Amino acid sequence: MENLGYYNGNIGAIEDINIPMLDRGVYFGDGIYEVVITVNHKIFALNDHIERLYKSAEMLKIIIPYTKEELKDILYDLVKKVDADEQLVYFQVTRGTAQRSHKYNKDIKGNLYITITPFNDIGNYKKRVKLITVPDTRAFHCNIKTLNLLPNVMASQKASECGCEEAIFHRGNIVTEASYSNVYIIKNGVLKTHPTNRLILAGITRKNILNICNSNNMNIEEIPFTIKDMMEADEVMLSSTTKFIVAAKEINGVPVGGRAPAVIKLLQYEYMNKILNETMD
Ligand code: PDD
Repeated sequence: MENLGYYNGNIGAIEDINIPMLDRGVYFGDGIYEVVITVNHKIFALNDHIERLYKSAEMLKIIIPYTKEELKDILYDLVKKVDADEQLVYFQVTRGTAQRSHKYNKDIKGNLYITITPFNDIGNYKKRVKLITVPDTRAFHCNIKTLNLLPNVMASQKASECGCEEAIFHRGNIVTEASYSNVYIIKNGVLKTHPTNRLILAGITRKNILNICNSNNMNIEEIPFTIKDMMEADEVMLSSTTKFIVAAKEINGVPVGGRAPAVIKLLQYEYMNKILNETMD
């Protein structure tokens, strides 16, 4: 298949699968999700993403009607059906199907929704990107990977309309993360990134980057930094499952970074190696 849609066991081309109007994901965005990539039809970092999905579910009291192993088996099976070796696999669980009411029945079972499409962006991480900053107007649940992404969507669209790749959120003068990625600065050999609390998503790529730093004896500080720190940093960097590790060249039209390219290259190289090692035939 060229692409694949899945909804509670129904499988077909994405364009042919319909979602019931009464799925709470449709009218409340009442659900959680994960995105993973495959290389050679093998899913990268699946265990970490599954763990995070179940943690998000627990925080929102959503019932995932599968064990972790069952869900992994469904995903392993579906990626085999899609022709492309490199795929984007999006999976979400909504709270379930019910008449619209803010309150929910505690026993309602989640709906599983999966889309798989070819992933053609693997080489794009090498290009430096332009960014903008936007106030972080999100609520205090940014650690939960919920479908409620309206502020992220608006910020991302604004970045795109400004000819930029990403929008960096700030609360006051503190940088939190970006609309679909985590944010880092490098200054005097130290990599700094916002601590994992309810203001940011604990990225799986972030976790891998910190591991790479540790094994290369690079100093890490998981502390908040300011917009000024960012504008004056040796490098500004983003990370996510779909964009990998990307360095910035400009923020709000002002040139940034570019003073520690060797560190960026090392992190990118080691991260790509990790993906390739885990997905080798
Ligand atoms: N976004 N912060 C936010 C707000 C995100 O949405 C994401 C991921 C990240 C990075 O997390 P990870 O490294 O686990 O992908 C940080 C995905 C890619 C998305 O929504 O498409």
